Amino acid sequence: MNQSLWSAFIEGEGKIHIIELIPGVRKIKGLGVLDAFETFSKIKFGEEVLVGQKILSRVPLRLPELSKGMLRRAQTISAKDAGFMTSRLGIGPGDKILEAGIGSGGLSMYIARVLGNSGVHVTVEPRNEHAEVALENLRRAKEGWSEFPTHHHIEGAIEDVVDQIQLASPEYDGIILDLPEHTSAIEAVAPLLSIGGRIACYCPVTSQLEAAWVACEEVGFEIEWAGELIERQWGKASKGGVRPVNGPFGHTAFLLVAYRRN
Ligand SMILES: C[S@@+](CC[C@H](N)C(=O)[O-])C[C@H]1O[C@@H](n2cnc3c(N)ncnc32)[C@H](O)[C@@H]1O
Repeated sequence: MNQSLWSAFIEGEGKIHIIELIPGVRKIKGLGVLDAFETFSKIKFGEEVLVGQKILSRVPLRLPELSKGMLRRAQTISAKDAGFMTSRLGIGPGDKILEAGIGSGGLSMYIARVLGNSGVHVTVEPRNEHAEVALENLRRAKEGWSEFPTHHHIEGAIEDVVDQIQLASPEYDGIILDLPEHTSAIEAVAPLLSIGGRIACYCPVTSQLEAAWVACEEVGFEIEWAGELIERQWGKASKGGVRPVNGPFGHTAFLLVAYRRN
C-alpha cells in the first residue's frame, strides 16, 4: 500500500487523524500548527509520536481509517449499509458503477475500494459544497491506496445530466441512489442499467422506500430485496463475559435492491 502522501494516526481513545505528509508548517485540525512531514514521516507503522499532549500511533490508511477520519458534510452511509449494497450488487473489478448523490463521499469510498484500478465510478451531485467535501475524501483515497478506479464526477441533478452520465459510460453494471426523490431519478437512469445489473436505493424513511419500489417495478425491474439491517454490538461485561452493549438500536435507512432481467 502506498504510504508516501497520506497516513492515519490514532489517538488513545480511537479518534483518527488523516494527515497529508507534505513539508511546510500548517494548521492541522485537532493537532495544532506543525510541519507534518518533519513530525510524522519518519514514524513507522505501529510506532507512537507525542504531539502536544496527545500520543498518536501511526497505522496504514485502510478503508476503515479513511471512513472514520473522513471530512463530513451531508449524512454519510457507513459500513453496515455500504457493505450490504456493494455485495448485493456484486460490485467488483472491471464494473461500471453510477452513484448519486455523492454527498460527503462516504459510500463512494466503499465503491472505489471494491472497484480497484479496472473499474469505472461515476458520481453525480447538484450541490457543490457537498461535492467539494466528497472529492477531497476521494483524493485522499486515491493518493493513499495502491488502486483506484477511473472516476468521473458530474455536477447537477441526476435527472438533468443523463447525457453526461451516458458519455462517461453507455451502460452501468450497478446504480446506487442516495437522494431525496427516487422516482424521477429511477425513471431517468433506468435505461442505462445493463441487463443483469442491479440498482440499490437508500431510503431513510418508509415513504421513500415505497416510492422507489413502485418506480423500479414501473420501469420493469424485479425487486430482489427490501428491508432494513439492524446491527447489535457486543462488549465485555464489567463482571466478566461478553454480552450485547446497552443502548438503543439506531436507524440508518431502508434499502431496496432491484434487478434488470431483460
Ligand atoms: C445524504 S446525501 C448522500 C450521502 C452519501 N451517500 C455519503 O455516503 O456521503 C444525499 C445527496 O443527494 C444529493 N441530491 C439531491 N437531489 C439529487 C438529485 N436529483 N441528483 C443527484 N443528487 C441529488 C444531495 O445534494 C445530497 O448531497
